[in-house]
Amino acid sequence: MKILAVNGSPRGQFGNTEVLLKHFLRGCHEAGAEIETIYLKDKHIKHCSGCFCCWTKTPGKCIHKDDMEELLPKVKEADLIVYATPLYYYTVTGIMKDFMDRMLPLNSKEIVKDGDRYSHPRRYNKEVTTKSVLISNCGFPGSYNFSGLIETFKVMTKGNLVGVITFGQGGILNNIEKHKPLKEISKSFILALRDAGEEVVKLGYITNETQAIIDKEIIDPDIYIKNANESWR
Ligand SMILES: Cc1cc2nc3c(=O)[nH]c(=O)nc-3n(C[C@H](O)[C@H](O)[C@H](O)COP(=O)(O)O)c2cc1C
Repeated sequence: MKILAVNGSPRGQFGNTEVLLKHFLRGCHEAGAEIETIYLKDKHIKHCSGCFCCWTKTPGKCIHKDDMEELLPKVKEADLIVYATPLYYYTVTGIMKDFMDRMLPLNSKEIVKDGDRYSHPRRYNKEVTTKSVLISNCGFPGSYNFSGLIETFKVMTKGNLVGVITFGQGGILNNIEKHKPLKEISKSFILALRDAGEEVVKLGYITNETQAIIDKEIIDPDIYIKNANESWR
């Protein structure tokens, strides 16, 4: 299985999102997947101009000359795309949104009806179904923070979202490996991230047991908030 992991944090390899992503991908790797990770912060991706030239004048080709030229073939060839983004105002980061918008050349202009829904079909590899996984973290505790984000990806991937990993105490992620007590209490969580990666590759979904561990808050939200507020001082 070919996996394209896209990290949309402006903090890239040093961010909290990366902690979730790297453990998940380790599980994927152990299950035999071929993985490529892209850090959008290092890429030059212009905003979509909304000109629809990629549908009309130059079908499948964007007017912009930038790093999307090298990224689109990777998206096209991936069996699974892992979208890893911190939550910014209840949705993806700006760089992730630009990346998503610039995938427009991969679809064709016709609107087709599928059941009670409408979409633009794939331009290439029409017989292939690309699966997706969403990974996110945010500063506020509580799964409700991710409701809009998850809905976006469910609709966007047309039912092919095979895994959702969200973490609402993002501030602690970078300390998980540095602080012994945190490391201790997050052991099962980290293992579950790896299991999730392995399960997505081998089974095509995350089991309920693994999901339950991932969804459980690692530390008490009141303690988290107290520490988070104090850390700004
Ligand atoms: C512009 C901006 C918007 C944010 N919006 C939210 C938000 O809506 N809800 C939330 O809980 N955290 C929000 N956060 C906090 C980030 O999600 C959090 O710091 C996350 O851990 C960053 O991940 P990273 O280190 O991978 O970039 C926001 C942060 C920034 C900089």
